[in-house]
Parts: sequence; structure tokens; C-alpha cells
Amino acid sequence: MILSARSFFRAGNAITQKQEADFFASIRLRNGTFKTTDHHRLDDLNMLVIREWQKLDLKPREIMDVGASSGISSLEWADALACAGIDAKIVATDLCMHARLVPLLPGYEVLVDRDGKVIQHILGNRPVRWSLDGPRDFFGGTGFLVAALNASARTLLPLTNGKRRGTDVLLVNPDARDSGRLSFADDDILAPNPEHLRGRFNAIRVANLLNRGYFDETQLRRAVDNLKDRLMGAGSYLIVNRTHADGSNNGTIFRLSETNQFEIVARMRDGSEIEDIVLSSDAAGA
Ligand SMILES: C[S@@+](CC[C@H](N)C(=O)[O-])C[C@H]1O[C@@H](n2cnc3c(N)ncnc32)[C@H](O)[C@@H]1O
Repeated sequence: MILSARSFFRAGNAITQKQEADFFASIRLRNGTFKTTDHHRLDDLNMLVIREWQKLDLKPREIMDVGASSGISSLEWADALACAGIDAKIVATDLCMHARLVPLLPGYEVLVDRDGKVIQHILGNRPVRWSLDGPRDFFGGTGFLVAALNASARTLLPLTNGKRRGTDVLLVNPDARDSGRLSFADDDILAPNPEHLRGRFNAIRVANLLNRGYFDETQLRRAVDNLKDRLMGAGSYLIVNRTHADGSNNGTIFRLSETNQFEIVARMRDGSEIEDIVLSSDAAGA
């Protein structure tokens, strides 16, 4: 059975990789994206990036991993870099890194995002999603339960002052949380860039987020402009990847030229599905 957020945080290190992967895959955010991730998902991409940097004897120190979910891929990247003699600090960000467990009734609590919106109901120890899958959801009865819980939470959260009550939680893998190489931040890649992130990074990776299935062309362009604005300038790297259903990684490594244009340095399999958007990005700064 999929773990609830309560069980996930209680268990600490005592859960299997599969339990952890199933837990994150079960969390759907309010913008429709899922926190799906897994151990060793990006290993071959990490090796491709490291080989490129070794060829040029580069040792980037300031790295960002956008849409990092549990942070396990960020940790594995930091470890792989360290093994290759690249001592980098990675800022792992996500739209929903910090969340809150709020008790509403005896035996009923909710996991809420930073806007106070439910991203998981917890009945006893059983996780129940907030999103409805359309009319067929009601044939098996789950739809009625989801709809009833959504209505209950809507009523109860304001009464309990839900944004302030409850326990703050960091939605990340425990080893990633404790790593000295990583730091974590909430981040919306579609929002205007916070000043402290601008022009700061030698390399940024965005894996399994900037997909055409998730975002339209305007949103993808805005995200790429924001990423460009966070890079240090000429010689900085952007890595965009999508893992297909068969587990294969398809990504592109881009480098910023002296004229502030992205150029392709290397590809993994078919490359990124948004190469055209990245290559035509001409934002001087978002
Ligand atoms: C499918 S997961 C990918 C996780 C990891 N990068 C990987 O490849 O395994 C996508 C992540 O992007 C995050 N996300 C969704 N919308 C976002 C946004 N607008 N800004 C930043 N992160 C976002 C989600 O919370 C989720 O954790």
C-alpha cells in the first residue's frame, strides 16, 4: 500500500526505495504535475554531463536542480560529481518542497502546500488523493470519498486556521535532507525570478518538468528565460531531460555562448523535446 505523508515522515530511513518512489509518485500538485521520481533515474545523464565537463577540465561549483522532487536525484548527482573530483554545491528546488501536516479531526489530517491547498488527505493512516479522475472515478466509489474529503477540508481548514496550525515538513528523501552538499528551496520556475537567484549558477538541470504535456509553449518559454537569467553567463550550462516510460533518458546539454545564445553541447538519445524553445530563447534577463 502507498504510504501516507504521516507514515513517510515517521519512517525516516526505514522505508524501501520502492515505497519512497510510490509515495512521491502519489503526490499531485495543484498545477497538475506529480512529484514522481526514483533512485538512479538520471545516472546515465549524470555520467554524460561529467564526461563533458572532464573533457574541458571544468569544475562547476554552483549548481541548481529545478523541480527536484525528493532530492534523491540531486544527491546522486552531487555524489557522482564528488567522485569525479567536482566539489559542487547543489541548490535543489521545487514548487512544493516545504509542506505542512495539519490535523483536522481525530483520525483525519491533511498535507497542504504553501498556499494551504490540500495535496493529500490522510484518513487514519490511509492516503487519499485530492484530484478527481473524471466520471469513471465515481464507478468504484473513490470519487465520492475524494469529493467528500475535499469538501470537508474546505470547511475545516479555515476553522482550524490551517495555514498556521500543524507541523512543517520538508518533502525530501532523508539522506538528501542531511547532505552537506545540498540545500533546498521552494521555487516556481514560471514566476518572476527572485533577485537572489539571478546570475548565480554555473549549471542548471531541469529533468522531467519542462514537458510539453505539462506546460504550453508560452509557459515553457517563460521557464527557459528564467533559467537563462539564473545562469552566470557565457560558459554556463543548462541540462534539460525527460525520462520516457521505458526509463530511458532523453536530454540535451546546452551551453551559453559569448553572445548569450544557447548552443548544443551533447545529447542523450533523442535529446530534449524543447530544444527548439531553448535554442530560440533570446531573453537578456527575465
Ligand atoms: C516529475 S517530477 C521530476 C523530479 C526529478 N527532477 C526527476 O527527474 O526525477 C517534477 C517536479 O517538478 C515540480 N514542479 C512542478 N511545477 C513546478 C514549477 N512551476 N516550478 C518548479 N518545480 C515544479 C514538481 O513538484 C515535481 O517535484
